[in-house]
Amino acid sequence: MSDVIWVSDLKANLVYISPSVTRQIGYTSDEIMSHPLTVTTKTHLRQAIQKALKYVSPERQRKGESARPFRMAVTRKDGSVVWTETYMSVLQDRKGQPVGIVGAVRDITERKTYEQALERSESQLRLLSQRVLQVQEDERARIARDLHDQLGQELVYLRMKAQSLAEQTGNSSDAHEALVELVNLIDQTRSTSHRIAESVSPPILDDMGLVRAVRLCAGEFSKHSSIACYVDVPVDSPGVPKEIATAAYRILQEALTNVSKHAQASEVHISIAKTRKTLVLRISDNGVGLDSTVPEKRSLGLVGMRERARLAGGSVRITSRPSRGVQVVARLPLDGSRDNTQDRTT
Ligand SMILES: Nc1ncnc2c1ncn2[C@@H]1O[C@H](COP(=O)(O)OP(=O)(O)O)[C@@H](O)[C@H]1O
Ligand SMILES: [Mg+2]
Repeated sequence: MSDVIWVSDLKANLVYISPSVTRQIGYTSDEIMSHPLTVTTKTHLRQAIQKALKYVSPERQRKGESARPFRMAVTRKDGSVVWTETYMSVLQDRKGQPVGIVGAVRDITERKTYEQALERSESQLRLLSQRVLQVQEDERARIARDLHDQLGQELVYLRMKAQSLAEQTGNSSDAHEALVELVNLIDQTRSTSHRIAESVSPPILDDMGLVRAVRLCAGEFSKHSSIACYVDVPVDSPGVPKEIATAAYRILQEALTNVSKHAQASEVHISIAKTRKTLVLRISDNGVGLDSTVPEKRSLGLVGMRERARLAGGSVRITSRPSRGVQVVARLPLDGSRDNTQDRTT
């Protein structure tokens, strides 16, 4: 048997310990029984017994409740550390009076090592996804800037040239008409480039403010999808940090894309509510709802929404009822509070 079984009285005096203890912690059972307990095993035992005693009340016994196993690190005779998990029960005499405790100690070092490795790789993945989202955001901002600053400037210059040529040519000549047309084309190209710049990197990232950006996004959405879009947002929302505004905006974009792609909805409602501590963004449609019979695909939209919210210290809840549509609720902290465990690096 590889687990160690021990029995103690209610004062934590060891009555029995199985020989398998040698394999687990290096001491023989004789060593442990005949000598005062080593500090580690003593602490170990005392903790175990204290936990077990909490569960000896007759009521709890009747309910069949037993002490939950507990984990602890124990130092072996050779100084190395073994992780253990102990299960305990209360021993009773014939009258049901507790007389002792029996414990079973399992070596879970291997499991613990796996768990730690998993935790490490999870936190690395989190860092990676944070980095990927950041790089994507930077890259988008750069493209938008190039479109606006460089291409924009060049188009302005081109337009001036075409305009002045048009003025130099006679009013009714073919060349004049062609040049006027060229000026109009250049104007169109400028507004196209402006639109592209805005869609890759919304100006909230600079100065527009979340509320205006949301209204703009909603307007564009209903224009292109012919789904009615109702927006309920505070008239003004200063003081939303850029990181939070960006996360909210990207979540909104993905949610709206999903509505137009999957929902077959006729209406979508967007609302933003703001307390001192939290920004709550809600997007609900009246479409077909999530199909729970379809196994979760390797889709990055919903995952990406959750990830963005998480990285901003918040969360996303997605709920759905058949033919009642989908509701996406993102909660993002405004006071810089965040769950520290999320960014932990090990
Ligand atoms: N508003 C919605 N209405 C109905 N189904 C939706 C909605 N949003 C998402 N879904 C379903 O959830 C799936 C996952 O969405 P997502 O992760 O964004 O992936 P993708 O949009 O690339 O398919 C979609 O394929 C779709 O089946
Ligand atoms: Mg999607």
